[in-house]
Amino acid sequence: MSDSALGRAREAVAGARRLMVLTGAGVSAESGVPTFRGAEGLWKKFDPSELASPEAFRRDPALVWEWYDWRRGKIAPCRPNAAHEAIVELERRKGEGFLLVTQNVDGLHEAAGSERMARMHGSIWRVRRADGRGGDWEDRRVPMEPIPPRDEEGELLRPAVVWFGESLPRGELAKVEAFFAGGVDAVIVAGTAGQITYIQYWAMELRSRGVELIEVNVEPTALSSMASIHVYGKAGEVLPRIAG
Ligand code: OAD
Repeated sequence: MSDSALGRAREAVAGARRLMVLTGAGVSAESGVPTFRGAEGLWKKFDPSELASPEAFRRDPALVWEWYDWRRGKIAPCRPNAAHEAIVELERRKGEGFLLVTQNVDGLHEAAGSERMARMHGSIWRVRRADGRGGDWEDRRVPMEPIPPRDEEGELLRPAVVWFGESLPRGELAKVEAFFAGGVDAVIVAGTAGQITYIQYWAMELRSRGVELIEVNVEPTALSSMASIHVYGKAGEVLPRIAG
């Protein structure tokens, strides 16, 4: 971790009246949650189109549920780490001038106490009817029984997460747009490979507005060329130092 980059990141964050923190799976890596990409990533072993798409669910709901059940079982014992806690501290300090935007579905930000947040990909701990009727609700059964689960009317349930090819949740998107409209001074992008198009678009848009973009990651990513400050290191070590 370079001290000068860390110093500039600290200064930018301390001086920001409005701060956004954008997180991905890397923020939960130190809690023991598997990431998607990289040597040990889930997408090395599994094909996203066979497990995380509406077509996959239509084809074989039990297979998709087995995978989600396996992931829920892995995440269940995981606890928030110092990165999640540093983000809560930033929220406490900035108040209304803060928004956490996460691609994570593991629930660890919520467990750490984050409240001002937009959950772009839903939650692995919530379910909803596969026919699209009604809202979603919390279901913490581990293991899930039976697989695939059904509601009392016999309708198939699905994880309330965003799959490939599905739209982003409108309410969460509205939170981000409202925050952008109020102006953004600095953004911390932590633990994401930045492979998803809308994330790349936001990073580009923010940079074109001259917003300070601080990347926190163990290695360069698809977003690195758009970042103005790069702090390389583990999120659980870097974020407390940026926030502190
Ligand atoms: P990825 O698994 O693609 O990327 C994780 C990033 O975290 C990589 O850039 C790693 O270098 C970095 N990383 C790993 N350990 C770290 C640590 N301790 N500290 C800091 N960084 C670390 O995860 P996401 O970018 O979140 O979507 O993936 C985005 C979306 O793609 C996911 O939400 C998921 C996936 O397909 C859906 O399922 C719709």
